[in-house]
Amino acid sequence: MKVGVLTSGGDAPGMNAAIRSSVRSLIHFGHTPIGIKRGFQGLVDQDFTEMNLRSVANIIHRGGTILKTSRFPDFKLKKVRDSAFKNLSLNKIDRLIVIGGNGSYAGAKALFQEHDFISCCIPGTIDNDIEGTDETIGFDTALNTAIEAIDRIRDTANSHERLFIVEVMGRNNPDLPLAISVACGAEYPLIYKTEADIQKAHKKIKDGLKKGKKSSIIIVAENDFNVIEKLQKSLKNEDLDYRTSVLGHMQRGGAPSAKDRILASQMGYMAAENISILSKLSFVSKVKGEIKIFEYDKTPKKDILINKEFSKLIEVLSK
Ligand code: F6P
Repeated sequence: MKVGVLTSGGDAPGMNAAIRSSVRSLIHFGHTPIGIKRGFQGLVDQDFTEMNLRSVANIIHRGGTILKTSRFPDFKLKKVRDSAFKNLSLNKIDRLIVIGGNGSYAGAKALFQEHDFISCCIPGTIDNDIEGTDETIGFDTALNTAIEAIDRIRDTANSHERLFIVEVMGRNNPDLPLAISVACGAEYPLIYKTEADIQKAHKKIKDGLKKGKKSSIIIVAENDFNVIEKLQKSLKNEDLDYRTSVLGHMQRGGAPSAKDRILASQMGYMAAENISILSKLSFVSKVKGEIKIFEYDKTPKKDILINKEFSKLIEVLSK
């Protein structure tokens, strides 16, 4: 089969390792891999290049994606998807391996529902927010990158006896902020969604001060609620010195961790091994430690128990 490989949406460390594994495994199983540039945009622009074993040499350790990526909102338009499908047919591309997050999965789903075009999706996002898999490629690296940055912030927070508000990524999913909070010993981590959450955080900060806490780290999950501004406003009348740091896109860059490289290698192989026998859009997942492949309408529910356990841990340990 001729199999297109693309990366789409926000990049994630480990995407290159997933491209390498997909391309080399496709060749191993007798298929022809075609690299598609800039995600779904490349389908419309017909930005296709045949790949070989050497095209993916020396990339396993590199962050970002050699195929480039894009957010491509136009793909929400039926006529754009129709033109993408036309180009796939014209170029005799039989299947796609789509490496990305929820938006990428939605694009692959639309191609399947409208044109019966079968893709195999590999979860690549730092957010760990994809239904059906316990782990996504990039999460572990982003977690470690954030921890390294926050450890440095803690040094200066401690020296100046200051409070630090640190905003981290994760979109609407608490996995990354919670894991960061456990791993860097953050004091008042919350997924702030309401005024009441902010007041709760404020009270905890005051209680901490009374207990003699001189410096603290508050992890704020990015969201649309202007949490930082509101928290700052609420803290204004307290006699304390605080600073704010937004980690931002630095969390998405850098060399992938060993865990992400291994996960990406396993998932790329699984996608390539099964690509020719799939009869529906399918998702590669890691469930309870095992790499599996599911038809899109049969993916298991994500285990959210870990979040409850993490919240409890933080509550007990952040005294
Ligand atoms: O999905 C990954 C992610 O980094 C989210 O955590 C964040 O909300 C978003 O992408 C940022 O997107 P962009 O790169 O388009 O600014």
